[in-house]
Amino acid sequence: MSDETLYKIGNGTRATAAPAVDTKGANDRPVGETTVPPSAHATRHTEESPRLFIDEKATNRTRARYQRIAASYDRMEWLMERRHQVWRARLWPLVEGPRVLEVGVGTGKNIPYYPAGMEVTAIDLTPGMLERAQRVAAELNASVELSLGDVQALDFADNTFDDVVATFVFCSVPDPILGLQEVARVLKPSGRLLLLEHVRAGGSLGTFMDLLNPFAVRVMGANINRRTLKNIRQSGLVLDRVEDIGLRGIFKLIIARKSQTSVK
Ligand SMILES: C[S@@+](CC[C@H](N)C(=O)[O-])C[C@H]1O[C@@H](n2cnc3c(N)ncnc32)[C@H](O)[C@@H]1O
Repeated sequence: MSDETLYKIGNGTRATAAPAVDTKGANDRPVGETTVPPSAHATRHTEESPRLFIDEKATNRTRARYQRIAASYDRMEWLMERRHQVWRARLWPLVEGPRVLEVGVGTGKNIPYYPAGMEVTAIDLTPGMLERAQRVAAELNASVELSLGDVQALDFADNTFDDVVATFVFCSVPDPILGLQEVARVLKPSGRLLLLEHVRAGGSLGTFMDLLNPFAVRVMGANINRRTLKNIRQSGLVLDRVEDIGLRGIFKLIIARKSQTSVK
């Protein structure tokens, strides 16, 4: 099966318009590449809303990369995971729920940290990653609904979740702003997005990360030079908390709100 035909996800039922986005300067949006013809994967649009389409080629490439590394992903990550575990343990107690969506669940590394009493739904783009998460959930007898899904076209109604959580995901989502807009759409008005992310550093280190990025994408499927804080602002979400947690501020714990005024 070719990359192009691998698993179509999403029913194209984005119920409402995402906020208009200034694409100028949004370095992560593949300007000009996202206007592929409407397809089963394309989002619904209205007269008032911008027509936003998923770059299916890039999305299939991302899925194919993670599918390729799914079996060895946990081994590849084991050293870093010792540090990530500390951050996961810090992030999850901040989740208030009760309705929680985990985006990009991967091999299920967050599942042991899900707080009790939450109604967790978790999605991932890649079947091979999701299968591993399903195994972890079964071993831990965790209460979580797992399914294939694309954060760029979520199969959930508007205003569904109290919290959306993603750890090290928006570095690999082909169109992170579109994904973040979808997160905003499915969050309740009082809802929050909680992230662990690595971002592009400033200064010469940032330039070095730009140079290294094509290699990182090919090997790990992740962009190491994403300007995720800027992308969050451009998606319409409001930054609430940004904490430097490691490697001179490259790793961050981020909380963003859907609304200007905190309702919680
Ligand atoms: C670096 S892994 C992180 C996995 C997990 N969150 C963790 O902390 O170990 C990135 C995950 O994001 C998923 N992903 C990438 N693009 C996605 C998208 N558009 N929608 C949903 N998941 C996506 C990949 O399949 C992969 O499992």
